[in-house]
Amino acid sequence: MTNAAAPAPNPTLLRVTALRKQFGQAEVLKGIDLCVAPGDRIAILGASGSGKSTLLRCLNFMERPSSGRVELGGSVVGTERTMRDGSVQTDYSERELTRVRQRVGMVFQQFNLFPHMTALGNVMEGLVTVQGMARALATTKARAQLARVGLAEKADEYPARLSGGQKQRVAIARALALEPELLLFDEPTSALDPELVGEVLRVIRALADEGRTMLLVTHEVGFAYHFASRVLFIADGVIHEQGTPDEVLKHPRQPRTQAFLARHNEFSF
Ligand SMILES: Nc1ncnc2c1ncn2[C@@H]1O[C@H](COP(=O)(O)OP(=O)(O)OP(=O)(O)O)[C@@H](O)[C@H]1O
Ligand SMILES: [Mg+2]
Repeated sequence: MTNAAAPAPNPTLLRVTALRKQFGQAEVLKGIDLCVAPGDRIAILGASGSGKSTLLRCLNFMERPSSGRVELGGSVVGTERTMRDGSVQTDYSERELTRVRQRVGMVFQQFNLFPHMTALGNVMEGLVTVQGMARALATTKARAQLARVGLAEKADEYPARLSGGQKQRVAIARALALEPELLLFDEPTSALDPELVGEVLRVIRALADEGRTMLLVTHEVGFAYHFASRVLFIADGVIHEQGTPDEVLKHPRQPRTQAFLARHNEFSF
């Protein structure tokens, strides 16, 4: 019998260090540091334009960070080079980023479904084109994901014939089909009529109960309170305040967090 010690488990799924993002002269993210452990459910709040979507887009590399480091499962994404002036530049290959995007799934406010494909076609798309899965197997997997979000009977409908809540659930099924380690939600309910918000939040709640690791940008402060293991408040391109839902949402210490929450006066626990 060998006595080799098991490798220490890496408790960090995602580690973000000094992440910055500029658009031209405008610096939107000014140094984000964030550690996400498996099972974390992180709610992200902040005023419009504070950079919440930009942060999520940088985490699945729809936007490339201007500088800083993203580590996924203990490996740095991209290849870092130290420049003559001592700064570090990171080169990203599309091939690597395609792999990262399968590990970090994203659900958008506007669903982003392909209008010319059925619900089933939308959920299968990534399995077939990105993962190269055979169509028969992809069909089976996609049907299972649609069933999971309560839409088995809508598999053959086109998005134009689905309600907003159903479209968003198809988008969630599409993200789940790739079996991501981390799920990012960017205001998944804010494009929905109020009566359709609940069905989408229930699906997100069920994913949380399965122990999935998720980052959720939301203005639904009440949902964030019950959903999150940790809450981040973003302002001026940095994490301005963070803590448990009780700390940040009930007893915020920073005046800007207090002012933001006071504006969301529909807030009830
Ligand atoms: N592709 C882009 N090119 C130029 N500027 C951009 C781009 N994307 C975002 N910005 C700018 O970055 C800032 C942050 O935008 P972002 O969409 O991340 O904010 P947000 O916090 O998600 O806002 P909201 O709550 O309204 O969704 C805004 O000033 C926006 O105009
Ligand atoms: Mg946004």
